[in-house]
Order: sequence, then structure tokens, then C-alpha cells
Amino acid sequence: MAQLTTAAHVHGRTHTSADDDVSKRLLDSAATLSFDPSVEIDWDAPLPEDQYGLNPEWSTLYGTRLWEEMTEQQRVTLTRHEVGSIMMTGIWFEMILQQMVLRDQYLKDPANAEFRFALTEIADECRHSIMFARACEKMGVPQYKPLRAWAEAGRGFKALARAELAYGGILVAEEVLDVMQRDWMRGENVLEIVRGTSRIHVVEESRHMKFARQEIRERLRGAGTARRRVNAFGVAAAAFVIVSSMVNKGVYAAAGLDTERALAEVRANQHRKSMMRTSSRHLMAFLAESGLLTRPAAGIYRQLDML
Ligand SMILES: [Fe+2]
Ligand SMILES: [Fe+2]
Repeated sequence: MAQLTTAAHVHGRTHTSADDDVSKRLLDSAATLSFDPSVEIDWDAPLPEDQYGLNPEWSTLYGTRLWEEMTEQQRVTLTRHEVGSIMMTGIWFEMILQQMVLRDQYLKDPANAEFRFALTEIADECRHSIMFARACEKMGVPQYKPLRAWAEAGRGFKALARAELAYGGILVAEEVLDVMQRDWMRGENVLEIVRGTSRIHVVEESRHMKFARQEIRERLRGAGTARRRVNAFGVAAAAFVIVSSMVNKGVYAAAGLDTERALAEVRANQHRKSMMRTSSRHLMAFLAESGLLTRPAAGIYRQLDML
């Protein structure tokens, strides 16, 4: 119990010196390994016509009959719009995140490493959103917006979610993107701007995910069953909005495909489902260990093919 002797009650929760050590290590890591996308990425290099936006295996249509019928040019266009749509969802989500983290740190002690890391994370996200915006512009991808109802749900979530609900939503979005981007950054025949932006994102987000997991553990310390259940459901609901908004249906028409047929093939795509399940394994294990994988929450994750 040595840790608890130095515990301080910060706004009704217990924040120990061991908790602050996690933030200190993350701050050290940020000081040695952070990137400025405006200089790391060659934004002026022309885009080779035959390179994909993301590894074909990550296309929502890969493995379907429609994919087999598509021309190589359509596959290139589709994957560029898919990655652009995911980046736009990333920007939407990073705006929600920045606001929640800023609100969470309101008037907290600036001497704490937690406060400083939280602000470092906001600065990272701000650079990421600008980087994604530039990548979309370069690929000629238009703005893809979430469904009106989800956009409004996001507005409510960013204004109201706190503690493990806020950090749970953050973690879900970061984990889902992370697994894909690890493949994109190594993808052969994937555009260099996608590989480069993914590399930067993977490195910086690994700290954010550690921070989110730490915050979730801390906020759940001593939380009652009712609170845990409600927030487990809230995190799963956030996952539903994030995952179902990831690829906008407009990408299919952009590649000259019939939208209705494409959506039907995506819904039945077994390859896609197994990719989702594999990439969610780590997240599901953490949620289970934190007591956030309740039965209703698991039902939602199953519907999303994350479980
Ligand atoms: Fe980010
Ligand atoms: Fe992040």
C-alpha cells in the first residue's frame, strides 16, 4: 500500500504517485520521439497512379465478387477514398477527443505530469488532424461526413462524457485505427503519404493508448457495479458509432460502383468480419479485464464483428 500513502484526492478520485509515474514516462517518450508531419512527409511528391490508398486486404470490398469484377483503376480509386474517409472520421473523432481531454483537465494542477501529458496529447491530435486533412486533399478525397444522427450524438458525447466513458471512447477509436495503420505503414504498393502518416500516427498513438488505459483503470478504481455497467454500455455505444461511421458509403460511387450492391456485398463480407475480429482482440481483452465487457456491451461488439 506504499503507493496509497502518497495518494492525493483529485476531484473526488484517487491519483497516486505511481499513476503520475506513468504520465512521466509518457512525457519522456514524447520528448524523444515526436514528429512534425509538415517536414516528415514529402507533400509535393506526385502520387504514382498505380498505388493504393490502403492495403487491398483492408478494403471493405476485398474478398467479394464485386472486388473481382472491378478494374485495377477502380480498386486504386476505391482504396484512396476508403483511406480518406477513415482519415476524415479520424479528424472528427480527434476533435471530440481534444475537447473531452481539455475539459477533463480544467483547473487541474499544472505541476502534475498527468496534466502535462494530457496537453501534449491534445497537441499531437491537433497535428494529426492537419496531417490527415492534407493527405485527403492530396488524394483528391472530398469531405465525407458522418450521418447527421451520429454527428449530433458526437456533439452530445464530447460535451457530456467524462472519466472512463470519455477515455473508453477514446481508446476504442485509437485501437481500431492502430491495427489498420500498422499494416498501412508497411503496405507494398500503398501511397507513401499513407505509409508516412500511418507511421507517425502509430508511434504517437501508442502513448495515447497507454494513457487512456491508465486513466480508465484509475477512474474505475472503487467504481460500483452500476456505474461500471452503465459506462460499459456507453463505451460500446460509442464503438458502434465510430466503427459504423468509419467508411462513408459515398466511396463506392466515387469508384464508379453501384452503391446498393456494394453495401450489400460489404455487409456479407466474411473477410472483412474476420479482419475486424482479429484487430479487436487486444481491445476486447482490455475491456474484459477492466470489467467493461458486460453482456449488453458484448452484444454490441458482436454485432460489429469485433467479438
Ligand atoms: Fe491521432
Ligand atoms: Fe490519440
